[in-house]
Amino acid sequence: MTFDPWTKVSDLPLGKTAGIFGLLYLVYYVLYAAYAVTLSPLAKVPGPITRKVSYLPCVIMNMRGRESHAVRDLHRKYGPVVRVNPEMVSFTGPTAWKEIYGYPGVKKFKKFGYRELRPGVPDLLTANGADHARQRAALNRAFSEKALREQEHHFQEHIDLFLSRLDEKCSESQPLNITQWIEFLAFDIIGTLAFSSSFHCLEDRGYHPWVLLLLNFFKSTHYVLAARMCGIFFPLILALGPIRDLRKGEEHLRRSYAKVQERIKMPEDDKRNDFWTYISRQNEQKEGSMSVEEMEVNAALLIPAGSDTIATALAGCLYLLLKHPDTLTRLRQELEAEFRSDADITMARLAGLPYIRAVVDEALRMYPPISGELRRAVPTGGAVVCGHFIPGDTIISVYALASCDNASNFAQPKQFTPERWLTTDERPDWTRNDHLEASQPFSVGPRNCIGMGLAYAETKLILTRLLFRYDLELLDDEFNIENQKVYVMWQKPPLSVNLRRRAV
Ligand code: HEM
Repeated sequence: MTFDPWTKVSDLPLGKTAGIFGLLYLVYYVLYAAYAVTLSPLAKVPGPITRKVSYLPCVIMNMRGRESHAVRDLHRKYGPVVRVNPEMVSFTGPTAWKEIYGYPGVKKFKKFGYRELRPGVPDLLTANGADHARQRAALNRAFSEKALREQEHHFQEHIDLFLSRLDEKCSESQPLNITQWIEFLAFDIIGTLAFSSSFHCLEDRGYHPWVLLLLNFFKSTHYVLAARMCGIFFPLILALGPIRDLRKGEEHLRRSYAKVQERIKMPEDDKRNDFWTYISRQNEQKEGSMSVEEMEVNAALLIPAGSDTIATALAGCLYLLLKHPDTLTRLRQELEAEFRSDADITMARLAGLPYIRAVVDEALRMYPPISGELRRAVPTGGAVVCGHFIPGDTIISVYALASCDNASNFAQPKQFTPERWLTTDERPDWTRNDHLEASQPFSVGPRNCIGMGLAYAETKLILTRLLFRYDLELLDDEFNIENQKVYVMWQKPPLSVNLRRRAV
């Protein structure tokens, strides 16, 4: 059959129609690729040609859970400004955090491409402008120093149970995957802080089904974000990802909403001091600071944001300490000089100890719980970022792993050296040119982590009480950070240890 150009497309057989569309797409794509590497205002931003002309390398690495590592490697090769995909640029310069997320940055660069949990109802992470300011004000009290002091007994009680469970394991003299027990503890604590109702993982010695759903929730969010980059191929990429994980993500949302409804119906109790107590007080004083629907979506945000991040920070601290016995010895010296017994260990006393803080800062540098992109959009008209003019509608980001594991920012970045975080006269000479401001695991500015104070206090408390009670021996290197995958959060492998109770 000869091809008549005036034949209507609908009259052609299906195969031919597909062929024509395929050809048109190919022509479009070749023109687009030529534009991307020559005339596009981003053409001169360094990066491999494949990333300039296609989203595919970025999508593939995301689906494999290796994009944070890949972007880190691109920066090592191409320098502090790198093209991650046709519309996105990543920065590692030491001022990048401040310029993009700090106070002036936040006014200029709006959050972009975040997954709204319930369309039309922004949560704290996705809200913009006035909505964000209002919700942040409503939640601020729940994260104040005062609230943390009032809640400390919850942390201590959960840690008591955590340690008694580890005592049982200790007597079994079996290798222990401590990552799992740290996750039990972190989830139980957030259940109590958020809803006055623990997940009871420690009591039951196992994951609550909701906690398992959450781990799938991260993965499903990750796949949706990766698939969105593929435009018309969105459904195809989603289909390649685990669709069932998406359904489990939905289940997490349903459970969070139900939990808020349950909590709202609880009778008044002056002694209760979970997050909703502080939000309700704020709501009474400033009517309507947060609607019930907003409480529901924020519950779905706070549980994962406040649990897996802490578990990652703790597992990272432990792994790195166990790999570096001299650092562990120095930390023990600081703790033993301050505390005579387990009962002495409090958040307030830990706040004054410099070395444990340096250990946590260094672990967060090498193993940042949020290691990937925090996308922001450049406004129409463009903007200068780290000395580079970036055209309007470009997506910009710092990737924490890329910025922290980078020899331009930190001397010997692979070396676990808490001393680099001490005061100037205590720092080793070879770390003096480090750009400490390049490690911002909680981000900076008005949209930084609202739970930062809580996270430091919780991580230090658990770590100290654990080290005070046990000698730990690392049994293998399965936890090796370099080999891990990231699906929004790190997929933490087992951290196998032997525990021995210390004589005190
Ligand atoms: C080591 C632990 C933690 C790390 C490294 C961490 C990191 C971060 C980062 C990087 C952001 C900025 C996200 C963005 O710009 O898109 C953020 C935001 C947030 N984090 Fe955390 N986080 C931690 C613990 C917590 C805890 C314990 C909570 C609550 C219990 C929490 C709640 C939140 C919330 C609600 C936001 C959104 C804040 C806003 O947009 O105003 N985080 N966190």
